[in-house]
Amino acid sequence: MRTLLSANLLAAALTALVMSTASSPVLAVDAEAAQTLAKQNKCFKCHAIDKKKEAIPWKEVAAKYKGKPDAEAKLTKHVTTGPKVKLDDGTEEEHPMVKTKNPDEIKNLVNYILGL
Ligand code: HEC
Repeated sequence: MRTLLSANLLAAALTALVMSTASSPVLAVDAEAAQTLAKQNKCFKCHAIDKKKEAIPWKEVAAKYKGKPDAEAKLTKHVTTGPKVKLDDGTEEEHPMVKTKNPDEIKNLVNYILGL
């Protein structure tokens, strides 16, 4: 089981590597910076990368928007305008906005999520 898991991880890492070298015009995502920003903004209170918490896992977000040309614009809007969202327990609240003055950091976070 352990070996299988790490083999999968390795395969995923290799795929990511191949894909990132194949599509050069897109700037490489800085995953560490994205995660730091997400932690600072407490995004992980409701989201996890690949398991369900109070909200949709980011891997599912990536899957949902796969191949959609307006994905980046949509998600950028989602994390900067505070739309109303429904939590798992049925309550509604305003989605938190990413707090940073640097639009590049938001772009990096959005592309990190889309690339999961
Ligand atoms: C209070 C809980 C909560 C926190 C904290 C939170 N989110 Fe969310 N988020 C949600 C919910 C609920 C949804 C589902 C919205 C829907 O699909 O209607 C969501 C959806 C999303 C989506 C997908 C939007 C889409 O169009 O499918 C992204 C991307 C996202 N959140 C990013 C973030 C980021 C980045 C942060 C940190 C700044 C964050 N979230 C913090 C609850 C939260």
